[in-house]
Amino acid sequence: MARKNKSDEMPNAHLHELFVDELKDILGAERQLLKGLKKLSECAHSDTLKEAFKTHYKQTEGQIERLKSVFSSLDVTARGKKCKAMEGLLEEADEIMEEFQDSPEVLDAALISAAQKVEHYEIASYGCLVTYAKLMEHTEAEELLAATLAEEKETDVLLTEIAMDEANVEAVQ
Ligand SMILES: [Fe+2]
Repeated sequence: MARKNKSDEMPNAHLHELFVDELKDILGAERQLLKGLKKLSECAHSDTLKEAFKTHYKQTEGQIERLKSVFSSLDVTARGKKCKAMEGLLEEADEIMEEFQDSPEVLDAALISAAQKVEHYEIASYGCLVTYAKLMEHTEAEELLAATLAEEKETDVLLTEIAMDEANVEAVQ
C-alpha cells in the first residue's frame, strides 16, 4: 500500500487520481474515435459531411498530441485505457450505418446523430477535465484541455449546421 501512503500526503490526492484516470479514458477514447471517424467519412453521402469528418479526424490527431502534452505537464506517462463509452457509441454508429446504408438520404442524418453523441460525450469529459485542472491549478493542462473543449464544441455546432442545411432536409423529403 506504499502508493496509497504516498498519495495521502499530497494535497488533492483523490481529485488528482480521478483527473489522471479521466485523462487516460479520454486518450483511449480519442484513439478509438480515429477509426470511427474514418468509417463515418467513408460512409457519408454529402461532400460537406465527408469533409467535416475528415477535418475532425485531423483535429482528433492534434487532440491526442495535446493530451500527451497534458500528461507530460503533470509528469505522468501518457497511457490511454479502453473507453467503454466510446466503444458503445461507435458500435451504435456501426449499427446505424448498416441499417441505413441503402437509404443515402437518411444515412447522413443518422451519421450526424451518431457523431453528435460522440461530441457530447467528449464535451462532458473535457468540461470536467478543465474544471479539475482549474481546481488543482494545473494551468498548462487547463489551457490545453480548454483548447480541445472549444474544438469539440465547434464541431458540434458545425454538425448541427450541416444537419440544418442539408442532411435532415433531405431526410424529410
Ligand atoms: Fe476529440
